Amino acid sequence: MRLEKYIATSGIASRRSVKKSIQAGFVTVNGEPVLVPGHPVNIGIDAVEFEGKRVEPLSEHIYLMLNKPAGYLTTRRDERRRPTVMDLVADLSDTLYPVGRLDLETEGLLLFTNDGDFAYRLLHPSHEVEKIYLVWVKGVPSDDAVQRLRQGVTIPSGTTAPAKVKRLKVSKDSATTKFEIVIHEGKKRQVRLMFKAVGHPVIRLKRVRIGNLRLGNLPSGGYRFLTSAEISELMP
Ligand code: URA
Repeated sequence: MRLEKYIATSGIASRRSVKKSIQAGFVTVNGEPVLVPGHPVNIGIDAVEFEGKRVEPLSEHIYLMLNKPAGYLTTRRDERRRPTVMDLVADLSDTLYPVGRLDLETEGLLLFTNDGDFAYRLLHPSHEVEKIYLVWVKGVPSDDAVQRLRQGVTIPSGTTAPAKVKRLKVSKDSATTKFEIVIHEGKKRQVRLMFKAVGHPVIRLKRVRIGNLRLGNLPSGGYRFLTSAEISELMP
């Protein structure tokens, strides 16, 4: 594995700062400074130090969260060569794949891993992990409409399970309303179709939390590795 990737995936520093540190001579392999970011590392054999600290060999699994911007497809490859989320994790993309899906225009928290078991269990309906979205919709839904969203509405793929729906803010001109919605299903385009079913199309949609995992202030288009506490909380 390339040296800069080996260090970055250990979570010790960002990819960019890793490259700078290598070029500045702060990284050694088996005690010798190595200035080339692409230098090969034999996992489990070579001893790598980053700014004087030993970099532990990778566990075979990688977990990270991306703050997906609108306009990127959640797919590993697009035949029409449109931008995909893989472009945003390009330096790691040979091993990773997205867990679940956000629509082209949906923003926010998207997980990636190379741990198939983790992905399968997280996505399985029996796991019922909560997903929290901020939603901006057209107009001002009535209390009755909000109640229907809470109880379940009919969308093409079936009736939605009860959801928590909180109205957060109506814009000054009453053109849009911002909501927080908590669902634990993953039907296709679920949030968009739910609000459409009560007559209020979604203008903007952003996932901000999965279980206890929060997007926080991760910049749009940026990613970070999950901590081991976050991984075990998500998948006890
Ligand atoms: N619901 C949607 O409608 N779109 C998403 O991307 C995620 C949830």
